[in-house]
Amino acid sequence: MGKRSPGMQLVGANILSLVTIGMYQNPLAIYREYLQNSSDAVAASEVGGRVDIEIDPSSRGIRIRDDGPGLPQSEAARALVAVGDSSKTRGVDRGFRGIGRLSGLAFAESVTFRTRCRGRKRITQVVWNGGTLREKVLEGATVKSILEECVDITTAPGDCFPEHFFEVEVSGVSRHAAGQLLNMDAVRAYVAEVCPVPLSSAFPFSGTVDNFLASHGRGFSLEVGVNGVDLPLQRLDHASIAFSETVSDAFVELETFEVASISGDRVAAVGWLAHSGYRGAIPRSLGVRGLRARAGDIQVGGENVFDHLFPEERFNRWCVGEVHVLDPRISPNGYRTYFEPGAHTRNLENHLTAVARRVAGRCRQNSSVRHAGRRVAARVERANQALGPARRLVSSDKAALEFVQRVVAAEEVSVRRAREEALQLGDGHLDSIEELSAIEASLSLVKEKLQEKAPTSGRRRSRDGERWRIAFEQLADACDSPEMALRALEGAFC
Ligand SMILES: Nc1ncnc2c1ncn2[C@@H]1O[C@H](COP(=O)(O)OP(=O)(O)OP(=O)(O)O)[C@@H](O)[C@H]1O
Ligand SMILES: [Mg+2]
Repeated sequence: MGKRSPGMQLVGANILSLVTIGMYQNPLAIYREYLQNSSDAVAASEVGGRVDIEIDPSSRGIRIRDDGPGLPQSEAARALVAVGDSSKTRGVDRGFRGIGRLSGLAFAESVTFRTRCRGRKRITQVVWNGGTLREKVLEGATVKSILEECVDITTAPGDCFPEHFFEVEVSGVSRHAAGQLLNMDAVRAYVAEVCPVPLSSAFPFSGTVDNFLASHGRGFSLEVGVNGVDLPLQRLDHASIAFSETVSDAFVELETFEVASISGDRVAAVGWLAHSGYRGAIPRSLGVRGLRARAGDIQVGGENVFDHLFPEERFNRWCVGEVHVLDPRISPNGYRTYFEPGAHTRNLENHLTAVARRVAGRCRQNSSVRHAGRRVAARVERANQALGPARRLVSSDKAALEFVQRVVAAEEVSVRRAREEALQLGDGHLDSIEELSAIEASLSLVKEKLQEKAPTSGRRRSRDGERWRIAFEQLADACDSPEMALRALEGAFC
């Protein structure tokens, strides 16, 4: 390695660019970062708890204002300029890296912070200019000179502002990010899924989950409104799982669990699962599917964060649940896509693998019950279909008797099996059992008729009848089912 040249810096401008504009793939993550900051401020001071998001597509601007304690001027000037240095405590606060507030720079021309704390007349305003930042990094300027040129600190009279507040204004949202950042529905859906908002009262287990989380010191939430027109956002705003307009599945049972730390002396994480009928993959658009991870009541990763722990990944899309990490040694990574590697994360994974196996077991069990149900329904349908032509043929051609007898016998076996399976499946299949009884009654009627018309033993079949039978057998080979062959013959001869 060569010697460091005299002008070389220990931390170069590219690092600045990386932690500001290179961190976030999903533009919506900026809402998470700003709400995370509001949460830390509110939780630490117990002042406030409301956040208003204003989105203005016409000016391509966003404003996020909280009613937390705000910052005094001296503190604001330090905290809002420093990069990678935070006064927050890892493990206590949600943030600790000292970079999250700059996330807006990746998708906008500038980001402005305004704040004041109780008792101050003036507000402090800190503007970060993203355009200048990018230019200076390209020019290879030093970190110090970039900060001097990109960041502007001023104060202004506080008359038009609340007594205490903190706001972020993201101005000149870039075109590539506007589709998401300025789309009210997308923002609402994202915030409701990811940010610390309360569980919806529509979700049947919200009260029980709230109590469970509170007993473990979790369940912090903010009241978040978007463009002032709607009710505060809530997560899991679903009374049941709607698979389509006509098909839905109820939440039937809540399971809670605790994950012990490696040494067993504390609870490393807690979680819950809202069991349903596990009918299949829950539609993504509902925003509820998957065993989700939360740290500090903010989501880590997405719906597939624990896919790798399931025996079959797809089963993670069948379930609804959350894992709340309590142990500060299980820390979200910088991108908040997963947890930093280490023994404590592995311990969590080991415990969750058992949870995921249980979920997969339920998925498989429910799916085999449903398949058996479908088989019963298919048999009922087949028996019904075969009866019609059988009845008509009996009265039209004696030569068909032998075949119809075979059909009736086969259907009787089929119906008997269907009845056994329906009985095993229990209450949900009573309708099938009734239908099967009706089919059995029809089958015995057909049988009676067959008996009346059956040729007496020893009587020779007519040559025509014999040909008919051969034709049928050949047709049966060519057709998908005897029932189709029967129909084809019926069309030809009757
Ligand atoms: N809404 C707010 N209310 C009060 N102070 C805030 C608010 N938002 C940001 N701050 C101050 O600005 C600092 C920098 O915020 P930033 O998000 O960059 O870093 P962080 O939250 O400390 O760490 P991280 O990068 O992990 O989010 C915070 O530590 C806090 O002191
Ligand atoms: Mg932060």
